[in-house]
Amino acid sequence: NSNFLIDSFGRKIRYIRMSVTDRCDFRCVYCMNEDMRFLPRDDVLTLEELGRIASVFSELGVEKIRLTGGEPLVRKDITQLTDYIGTLGFNDFTMTTNGSQLVHYAQQLKQCGLTRLNISLDSLDQDKFHKITRTGYLDKVIKGIDAAITQGFESIKINTVIMKGRNDDEVLNLVEFARDRNIDISFIEEMPIGIVTDHSRKETFCSSDEVKSIIEQRYALKNSNIKTSGPSRYFTMQDSSTKVGFISPYSHNFCSECDRVRITAEGRLLLCLGNEHSIDLRSILRSKKNSNQALKSAISNAILLKPEQHLFDQDNHIQVLRLMNMTGG
Ligand code: GTP
Ligand code: 5AD
Ligand code: SF4
Repeated sequence: NSNFLIDSFGRKIRYIRMSVTDRCDFRCVYCMNEDMRFLPRDDVLTLEELGRIASVFSELGVEKIRLTGGEPLVRKDITQLTDYIGTLGFNDFTMTTNGSQLVHYAQQLKQCGLTRLNISLDSLDQDKFHKITRTGYLDKVIKGIDAAITQGFESIKINTVIMKGRNDDEVLNLVEFARDRNIDISFIEEMPIGIVTDHSRKETFCSSDEVKSIIEQRYALKNSNIKTSGPSRYFTMQDSSTKVGFISPYSHNFCSECDRVRITAEGRLLLCLGNEHSIDLRSILRSKKNSNQALKSAISNAILLKPEQHLFDQDNHIQVLRLMNMTGG
């Protein structure tokens, strides 16, 4: 099939992550600053434009789609888009959400064919949750997770960014939370995306190895060969179906297996999370020559610009200025 997208390092692109809004009802300290200015409405792709892009990627052989934000569920009428994407025939249709609106949306998401959900949760303690997300919605998030569980998605995964001094004492509590519910959990190393003013990332950095050794004080973790297309390395526990994942861009670089590209909220095709290489799809969508063929050839050419790897390194990285809410991780 000549339609497949292959980059100049031979990596096949199977996975598109689409940010449907830069807005969010949270202000997580690793993602945003407190006083955020969001994009003007006209700069953000419409739901129709997002649907067009999804359908073009599906025709280009991409099998997996994930909607991200900001927070995807604060986008008005988001279910019009999820209903449409559900008809496009992706093998895997997923979303990354902060969970605050899931009580309202879980059932509709299941009905439109969403297969899996990743839900962010950094602490089970009201005060710590508040200090990290700068909101008081912990109870809503927990209710949202439980609402999603009753819908019977193929999998539900908690995403936790561990920060020294903020929530590194919550690791075991969160593992228990996941075990109690038979859902998975991934621990993520904080990445230097955007300049955040709340903390020094170097000081709060907590490596996956440190998190893993905390868990191993209570549970033996068995290395599994489970391969999702995501960057998580998964471990299993003997007496539970809960898988524990580690996303470790610093300590275990996974760029050579990268199979994904991103669409930012304003319609840039971003080729790597840790670089700025991108092309503007919005101008094609809004031009007179806006055919699916024009989009496809722009995308195929752009894939050849995908860089070999991200440039994060703890002491002297090239700073990515865009904040995480433009791409949803
Ligand atoms: P699945 O494996 O499909 O469940 O998804 P995922 O873990 O890739 O997606 P999710 O949106 O839950 O992302 C979890 C974390 O992984 C976020 O903090 C992302 O920023 C990070 N992440 C996802 N993809 C990449 C990537 O290509 N590079 C880097 N450095 N981090 C990534
Ligand atoms: N480093 C690592 N993970 C991040 N996320 C947001 N910002 C960062 C960052 N700087 C994570 C959130 C969520 C997903 C969307 O990305 O915790 O799980
Ligand atoms: Fe919102 Fe997610 Fe960013 Fe937190 S990490 S501010 S929930 S977009």
